[in-house]
Amino acid sequence: MVIILNQTKDESEITMKEQIKKFAIKSMVGFQTVMIYGIGRQVGIFNYLYEKSKSQPTEGKITSISFTLEELSEKLNLDLKYLDGWLHMALECGLFEIDESAERRAKTAPHVYDLYVDPNSMFYLGSITFGFYGANFFLETLLENFKTGKLESFLSLPSDFYKVGQQMSAAMGKTVEGLFSKFCKEEKKRVQKGGTVLEVGCGYGLNLENWIRKYLRAKFVGIDIDPQGIEHAKKEVEKNEWNDRVEILDVPLEDYAQSANSKFDLIILNQVLHEMNPDENYRKSVFEDLYSLLKENGILVVGESMIPNTFTKEDFQLFEVMHKWFEVGFGSRFYDEVSFRELINSTSFKNPELIRERRNYCWIIRK
Ligand SMILES: C[S@@+](CC[C@H](N)C(=O)[O-])C[C@H]1O[C@@H](n2cnc3c(N)ncnc32)[C@H](O)[C@@H]1O
Repeated sequence: MVIILNQTKDESEITMKEQIKKFAIKSMVGFQTVMIYGIGRQVGIFNYLYEKSKSQPTEGKITSISFTLEELSEKLNLDLKYLDGWLHMALECGLFEIDESAERRAKTAPHVYDLYVDPNSMFYLGSITFGFYGANFFLETLLENFKTGKLESFLSLPSDFYKVGQQMSAAMGKTVEGLFSKFCKEEKKRVQKGGTVLEVGCGYGLNLENWIRKYLRAKFVGIDIDPQGIEHAKKEVEKNEWNDRVEILDVPLEDYAQSANSKFDLIILNQVLHEMNPDENYRKSVFEDLYSLLKENGILVVGESMIPNTFTKEDFQLFEVMHKWFEVGFGSRFYDEVSFRELINSTSFKNPELIRERRNYCWIIRK
């Protein structure tokens, strides 16, 4: 064990004040933002602001929406003193700012409309932030399991909560679609012209839905093992009258690969791998199954958080580290870039390609 005693102060040493500032900015404000956003979303404020913005005549793109506390209280049937406390903190967190156009009015701060109000914005962070807020409901179990190492199953989560988790996956799936669309032009054309697409682990269908809406002539199959997810996905297909081009099946990949009699132009595996059985041989068999389901000129797109070891001093993305922490209690097993490449190269697939743009990335794997 190494105990660090008082050392002589060197010039580059961080001061107490700087350290406190780091805590304050990185964690306290961030934590409050998650809490305040989460509560605001739960009581319907963000949804209300979105609906309000959509119902108002506007010229051009909406960038901000303003409101009063009285209005929120009346429309959402909420207590004014709680709303006042909530808004005060939300102003402090930078979600809103005072709207000077009238007395006691607030409006969304710059970019907050895109980040937290409009769920269709490509910059929308609402699902991810709400997912972290949702983790609070799980704290008691987490604390108990922390001591014993016990693991939970994703299927033991309340359906609503698991769905929020999948909203986060689907938000990441949107960025994966963006990368596919930009960097896989040939394959994109094929899918657009009426290609076939399989999503393995489609869950509630939230990610699949984005693809279905974008590739209007393509035919889709979504498979999963979560009956509640499947039920929800099927209802959406029904509701949107997609039955002629979308099929949702309650079947594990391993069984589907045995029984399917058609192959696909595109297979999507978005935020699924880390939730699958962690056994290395099982993971290899997943890629063998995917290989057998892909057409010769087909493409496999994998959206998966690449997480370096704790002590590698690599530049990391906060979301990925949170993803690891968030799912540690479910026994999730992640890869980093090197180990993922090794896994793929040990299967019939070879040479996975990591496509990156800004903070977004996905793996493109061809036969
Ligand atoms: C985090 S969710 C991702 C859902 C969806 N892909 C998205 O991006 O929104 C992972 C899903 O993989 C499913 N899954 C896990 N193992 C599977 C298997 N062997 N076959 C099919 N689905 C599986 C889980 O039931 C869960 O719905």
